[in-house]
Amino acid sequence: MTAVPFFRPNISDREVALVGESLLSGWLTSGPKVAEFESNFADAVDAKFAVALNSCTAALHLALLAAEVGPGHEVLVPTLTFAATAETVLAVGAVPVLVDCTDELLIDMEQAEALVTERTRAIMPMHYGGRPADMQAVCELRKKHPQIRIIEDAAHAFPTRHELGMIGSIGDATCFSFYANKTLTTGEGGMLTTNDEAIADRARRLSLHGLSRDAWARFETRSAWDYDIVEAGWKYNMTDAAGALGLVQLERALGFAEERRQIAMAYDEAFAEVPGIRPRPLGDISANACHLYVLRVDPEELGGRTRDGLIAALGEAEIGTSVHYRPLHMHSYYSKTMGFEPEDFPVAADQFSRIVSLPVFPGMTDAEQNSVIGAVLNFAAG
Ligand SMILES: Cc1ncc(COP(=O)(O)O)c(C=O)c1O
Repeated sequence: MTAVPFFRPNISDREVALVGESLLSGWLTSGPKVAEFESNFADAVDAKFAVALNSCTAALHLALLAAEVGPGHEVLVPTLTFAATAETVLAVGAVPVLVDCTDELLIDMEQAEALVTERTRAIMPMHYGGRPADMQAVCELRKKHPQIRIIEDAAHAFPTRHELGMIGSIGDATCFSFYANKTLTTGEGGMLTTNDEAIADRARRLSLHGLSRDAWARFETRSAWDYDIVEAGWKYNMTDAAGALGLVQLERALGFAEERRQIAMAYDEAFAEVPGIRPRPLGDISANACHLYVLRVDPEELGGRTRDGLIAALGEAEIGTSVHYRPLHMHSYYSKTMGFEPEDFPVAADQFSRIVSLPVFPGMTDAEQNSVIGAVLNFAAG
């Protein structure tokens, strides 16, 4: 059987050429390539503004600050997410209020609504695996409670569509990740998109120390040395070489997404009738970025064999896997500081014991896909 990594980056000669050109241009920090990447990305998600940053974590942090979320506020966060979604809430001095997930592994909007108080200032739906959260319900919640801002964690969700529009064009701010294994990569990187000019301006300013103008603007103007610190900020901007990488990856991203969808459909077909192995529903696949492909293992139907057994069997076949995620409330920091027990969010805790993410990446060969399918079927057959 062919060994399969969990993920393999897809970098062509075109990325190498444009990054090389950028490095030799004399402009290393945020400059023309970042500006072009921002403009093209905003167009791709139908957003008015895009601010390129050095991570999605930075984007989440700045989105919360720009939306004026801070001490005394509560923010609704799914427990089934990555560290960044909640730690940025803590970073601005607000309290993350964890919410259980649905069987689709998306934020449970009924529970979210029940947890709203007069201190709730934001909700952070996470589009798990590239499948959109229930944005209809999220937008209705905002209508009922106009103080609530929508800050989307779209680390997995380019390109993801919802009936309300492209992810990136719906909430007050949407935060994308361009980390190495994401659907579009700049090595490390992120993007904040918004239709609110005030949020875009403040995020951009905070990304560069709270300076009144960025280096690119300084370069273009005559008074190049002058700037004013209008508030205390951070250093979160994207380099131009990363912007160049992003520009080419963005051009290839729709093709990448189509490849991932084909792989997900092949897996779905192979596993549809296998007892004890339950694929996470993909929803409308044409709208799903298919960043992750997740199987659920039912030990009850597999004579007690578990998710960990499947991971070990795939490991022996040299197939990479991952688990997305141990729910936040089951990490020692959150359980100690907030007093959580695993059963406080029973759906997430149960799903966590069953889920495994299989390799899905553009450029995956037929032999690699067959190797993964064969190893899963072997395990299920006992
Ligand atoms: C759901 C989610 N949110 C946020 C992040 C943070 O992204 P970054 O590494 O670009 O900061 C990740 C990264 O894996 C993620 O999976």
